[in-house]
Amino acid sequence: MSFRIQPTAPARPNRCQLFGPGSRPAIFEKMAASDADVINLDLEDSVAPSDKDSARANVIAAISDIDWGTKTLSVRINSLDTPYWYRDVIDLLEQAGDRLDQIMIPKVGCAADVYAVDALATAVETAKGRTKKINFEVIIESAAGIAHVEEIAASSPRLQAMSLGAADFAASMGMQTTGIGGTQDNYYMHHDGQRHYSDPWHWAQAAIVAACRTHGVLPVDGPFGDFSDDEGFRAQARRSATLGMVGKWAIHPKQVALSNEVFTPSDEAVAEARAILEAMEKATAKGEGAAVYKGRLVDIASIKQAEVIVRQSEMIKG
Ligand code: COA
Ligand code: MG
Repeated sequence: MSFRIQPTAPARPNRCQLFGPGSRPAIFEKMAASDADVINLDLEDSVAPSDKDSARANVIAAISDIDWGTKTLSVRINSLDTPYWYRDVIDLLEQAGDRLDQIMIPKVGCAADVYAVDALATAVETAKGRTKKINFEVIIESAAGIAHVEEIAASSPRLQAMSLGAADFAASMGMQTTGIGGTQDNYYMHHDGQRHYSDPWHWAQAAIVAACRTHGVLPVDGPFGDFSDDEGFRAQARRSATLGMVGKWAIHPKQVALSNEVFTPSDEAVAEARAILEAMEKATAKGEGAAVYKGRLVDIASIKQAEVIVRQSEMIKG
């Protein structure tokens, strides 16, 4: 490890973030009753410009009126290039109850975007005497966002989570696709007369995971648009989990169970991790730094890998 120790990310379950338009209050109770760890009430792109004011009012009322249980409750505000975002922050922090945990800032392009929201949030919280400081989460969904991903990850002590927003990201990058995440027909290698599909989101996800892990932020995979394709969702989510992301969005309630399934370490994975820890305990007792487990090398790094899985499992159960 570097002299600078890697900070731990917030220890809270974040396997699935369920979204719903703030302009559709009829589904808020259903969202609250879902198995999602995080709820994202949306004021941004799922709300038409003519509905921005009423959606904001719906969301503010619902924060207090609905029993959100132990979920992390977040509201996605409008981006900093719109005339709506300052009113979102001010009204939420002046009028919404203390149940609100987090504000999601979309289309963040640099650390100064987060700084601006932080300054406004701090002023309103202080003026109102709010004792519970609001947390932030951000979406990386532009060329600028990914180019400045590390400074964004380091931008504020309020920052808890960072998601990749595939659709806006693709548009900003000029990518030739209208799909929201997942396999892209034209992104393949050609070998021996066959197409082998590759993952165009991989590098952006890896950049987000590295920035997040460096600064103690939770890396999250964003939306998968085709909610009739369960296997496509699973495949995308499994790749994200393998890369170090802790969860994924659900843009339809049927995706919640899929996401929870993928991002909850399986009993087999936990049992294997515990067996590796046991094998290493025995090795350590004998004064050895490496051992053989089921015909493969395990060493002190394996302890850390196994602990990631055991810790994640215990945190979710606890
Ligand atoms: N959360 C909870 N429940 C939801 C829901 C959501 N996001 N979306 C739909 N439901 C409910 C419906 O009310 C319906 O309930 P019912 O069985 O009691 O009637 C049930 O789930 C099935 O809904 P369905 O008819 O399949 O979907 P729909 O046509 O009503 O809505 C979407 C589909 C995609 C428009 C809707 O799911 C949605 O708005 N998703 C979120 C979009 C969003 O927030 N985007 C921003 C982030 S990318
Ligand atoms: Mg977006």
